[in-house]
Amino acid sequence: MRLLVLHGPNLNLLGQREPGLYGCSTLAAIDASLARQAEGLGVELESFQSNHEGALVDRIQQAGDRSGQGAADGIVINAAAYTHTSVAIRDALLAVAIPYVEVHLSNVHARETFRHRSLLADRAVGVIGGFGATSYRLALDGLVSHLREVR
Ligand code: DQA
Repeated sequence: MRLLVLHGPNLNLLGQREPGLYGCSTLAAIDASLARQAEGLGVELESFQSNHEGALVDRIQQAGDRSGQGAADGIVINAAAYTHTSVAIRDALLAVAIPYVEVHLSNVHARETFRHRSLLADRAVGVIGGFGATSYRLALDGLVSHLREVR
């Protein structure tokens, strides 16, 4: 099983960015922890971060090319601010039809109302938020369980 973790804009600044909201873990530390978790689960995992909507769309399209290097059976995605705005990322996820879990470090529903809307949530396998870096861990566990059940 090959899985992809996608991180959207400004998540490269984790560790220094609003630590009261997003915690003190860096993105590198989160990715390293996910890599260890993936090894334990017996799945392959690749992480990709971009501040650019088009780059995220390109990476999702690559994940959908089943014979290519970047193919994926499932996606964990924290689209960050693009969660609330990006029809392009939604369309890419639906085009490749790869099961995905939406993840957030913060509880977006306890924040500004513009963060309450997600353009990705209604087609996700599940949505997890509010647990800081642990949200990613829960999302990966949930996605692997889901994929193992449906296979
Ligand atoms: C976020 C929540 C988004 O609203 C915000 O734009 C982010 C991070 C989170 O992980 O809590 O950049 O996705």
